[in-house]
Amino acid sequence: HEEFTKVKNIATIELGRYEIDTWYFSPFPPEYHDCTKLFFCEFCLNFMKRKEQLQRHMRKCDLKHPPGDEIYRNGTLSMFEVDGKKNKVYGQNLCYLAKLFLDHKTLYYDVDLFLFYVLCECDDRGCHMVGYFSKEKHSEESYNLACILTLPPYQRKGYGKFLIAFSYELSKKEAKVGTPERPLSDLGLLSYRGYWTRVLLDILKKHKGNISIKELSDMTAIKAEDILSTLQSLELIQYRKGQHVICADPKVLDRHLKAAGRGGLDVDVSKLIWTPYK
Ligand code: COA
Ligand code: NA
Repeated sequence: HEEFTKVKNIATIELGRYEIDTWYFSPFPPEYHDCTKLFFCEFCLNFMKRKEQLQRHMRKCDLKHPPGDEIYRNGTLSMFEVDGKKNKVYGQNLCYLAKLFLDHKTLYYDVDLFLFYVLCECDDRGCHMVGYFSKEKHSEESYNLACILTLPPYQRKGYGKFLIAFSYELSKKEAKVGTPERPLSDLGLLSYRGYWTRVLLDILKKHKGNISIKELSDMTAIKAEDILSTLQSLELIQYRKGQHVICADPKVLDRHLKAAGRGGLDVDVSKLIWTPYK
């Protein structure tokens, strides 16, 4: 049945004040296979076939933000942590929604095993989802991020880099290194490469004297392999006398930093109130 269900059926969704064209197939339950547009409640993420159903729902739904703990607030930007086990339906709805913009990700029905970090822009009407990432509660492969999405109307504004930076701040609090689950999409890889480049080169610029990959990894929570591949792709690694040596010519670093794009929105760690999942 895999083959014939993979036809992209839902062409657009309505979510909050946006109508969004979808990118990929998402395996909504069979009763939704006959429609081309779905109407989402922007708060609980329940989806409906008709606008009138959504309007009726909005009068009853008393959520004004994702169902979970607000673990970060900075100005109008808030991050909520949603436990997939405590909020199963929300987790599943979020996965259905996200799959519309993710190509080769398997959809996890087993949302119990994941935490969802949902980024919102808040105003007097509520907290409006901008994007999210998911994270396994326990990862043997040291994954600190499973899926990442910025909703299309919010893309290219720095939210993706914010989400990536946030995932590493959580890893730092756990005193662990982390890496995103593979495969990464093209846009995912571009965003990660930009983030890694900026973080690593900023350190190299300021640092006096030698620094090892291990030290960089300890400072950033970026996995050593990702540091090596980033520096190698920038041709900043030389191999001398059986050892990797990082070249840190300030002019070269500045050139790469410029090419890596804008810094995005910063995570202010003093505003993160969070303890690792046990
Ligand atoms: N074209 C070219 N470069 C792009 C791009 C695009 N459409 N979108 C992002 N990038 C690159 C740029 O280098 C950008 O930095 P810059 O704007 O400073 O040049 C960088 O990625 C990150 O931009 P940012 O605004 O922080 O990211 P975003 O909020 O747009 O989110 C993703 C990035 C990957 C989360 C988003 O594209 C997305 O949700 N894609 C669909 C889901 C997906 O593929 N997820 C990853 C699966 S592993
Ligand atoms: Na993908």
